[in-house]
Amino acid sequence: MPTQNTDHTGLETWSAAPTTKGAHNARMSKPGQIVQSWIAMKALASYTLAFKTGDTIFNEGDPGCTAYIIERGKVEVSISRKGERLVLAQYDTGDLFGEMALIDDTPRSATITVLEPTEVIAIDRSLFEKAFDKAHPLVNLFMHTILYNLRKTNQLLLNKVVTPGYLLSQDKFNNKFLDARNETVYLVKAENELNRALRDDEFELYFQPIVKATTGRVEGFETLIRWFHPERGMVPPGEFITTAEQTGLIKEMGDWIIQEACRQLSRLSNEYPDLLKEQPDFFISINLSAKQFIFPDLFSVVTKSLDTHGLTPKNIKFEITESILMDSPETAMVILEKFKEQGFRIAIDDFGTGYSSLSYLHTFPIDTLKIDRSFVISMLENHTSLNIVNAIVSLANAIDLTIIAEGVETEEQLKALQDLNCDLVQGFYFHKPLPFTDVLELLKPK
Ligand code: C2E
Ligand code: CMP
Ligand code: CA
Ligand code: CA
Repeated sequence: MPTQNTDHTGLETWSAAPTTKGAHNARMSKPGQIVQSWIAMKALASYTLAFKTGDTIFNEGDPGCTAYIIERGKVEVSISRKGERLVLAQYDTGDLFGEMALIDDTPRSATITVLEPTEVIAIDRSLFEKAFDKAHPLVNLFMHTILYNLRKTNQLLLNKVVTPGYLLSQDKFNNKFLDARNETVYLVKAENELNRALRDDEFELYFQPIVKATTGRVEGFETLIRWFHPERGMVPPGEFITTAEQTGLIKEMGDWIIQEACRQLSRLSNEYPDLLKEQPDFFISINLSAKQFIFPDLFSVVTKSLDTHGLTPKNIKFEITESILMDSPETAMVILEKFKEQGFRIAIDDFGTGYSSLSYLHTFPIDTLKIDRSFVISMLENHTSLNIVNAIVSLANAIDLTIIAEGVETEEQLKALQDLNCDLVQGFYFHKPLPFTDVLELLKPK
């Protein structure tokens, strides 16, 4: 039988070496860690419930979206088939139960009966999902596997014919399990591939010129990553950036992109020492993914790269999307202010496709708006698109923001943008993204 704790918080029992409990006790080998999670969860849990001896907290097969931690008291976990009842475990102060239905959204795997007056604190699914969504997909797979095995073991223990209702819930569970497993297997393979590619130096930065609409002079470059896969050839970023974000690899990849962009800009200025003298506003523009933006050491990675290559912040521009500003404005503000103070420039990428809240244009320290390609493509056929481009350019000119139109492919589009007083343009009409050697060739003094 478990030792009843005497301390009303239950912490005494947890910090001591675990006492022997039944085979199904949820207690793990590191009680200190469990105490920490328990304290953290108690702080988050929203309400307490009280039960008296003999109460059923829930029945096997019930739907469930709440897990419970026992504040004080004792409960029994059991399953029954055809009148036969099997006790799986007894839980007391500090123990967690009801977590299985909450994790994988299946009916309760067992009945919980109260053995003595019991108080529990409730943890709702919403709370758990927030944490679970952020976890690596492997965590998801591991948990589903543990649940799957535990349910199977319960079945074996019971060794009885299962009811149709139970079979149904098992099918649902299996599908979910398979989905999670397939997704995870895909991501784990992709993560291994991307890791290998980073190690083997398979990534390269390409540079797409951004030119003055009226003269065609190159004013800067957007850096765009390319993956040269040994078998698949050149893989575009659309096929791996999301995976890098999902697996967290975007941090390492993003750091590499920053360092490489700085290295290449410094090569360029060494090769053509007059470039930055004649064009002090010349820039290299680096795309920052939302996931990369929130890493606390982003600023130090950037400043270290600048120091290493003897560059100044004014020649670096960062492209971020509107969602970065809207999802966590306070964090974004702190980070952007820091960059702005040092003299970096900030561009809003794909402008017009996201929230496009005008209020942030004067709240955040922004320098540049990049009009999304979709407007440029349709502006000649669709009057609304033309009006939108016109409005964005006028707005940007009125509040002194630089404007860049993306995806210019034809002379007519260029002409229309010139007529609207659009300052800078970028697109296949002028140049596709180029490898560094072509950049050197392009900027070679004539
Ligand atoms: P983006 O930041 O909007 O980049 C512009 C994309 O439009 C590039 O595609 C570029 O090649 C393409 N583009 C430019 N002009 C034209 C044009 O005239 N016509 C057409 N059809 N396309 C044009 P790319 O290189 O495939 O990149 C796609 C997206 O992948 C980027 O969209 C960006 O979101 C992401 N990405 C690319 N490189 C990086 C990177 O280094 N870091 C991060 N975080 N994301 C990147
Ligand atoms: P859930 O399926 O939500 O509801 C019943 C709970 O009983 C379950 O979550 C677990 O917390 C617990 N449970 C189920 N099977 C076992 C077992 N074999 N050993 C210990 N606890 C169990
Ligand atoms: Ca971009
Ligand atoms: Ca863009």
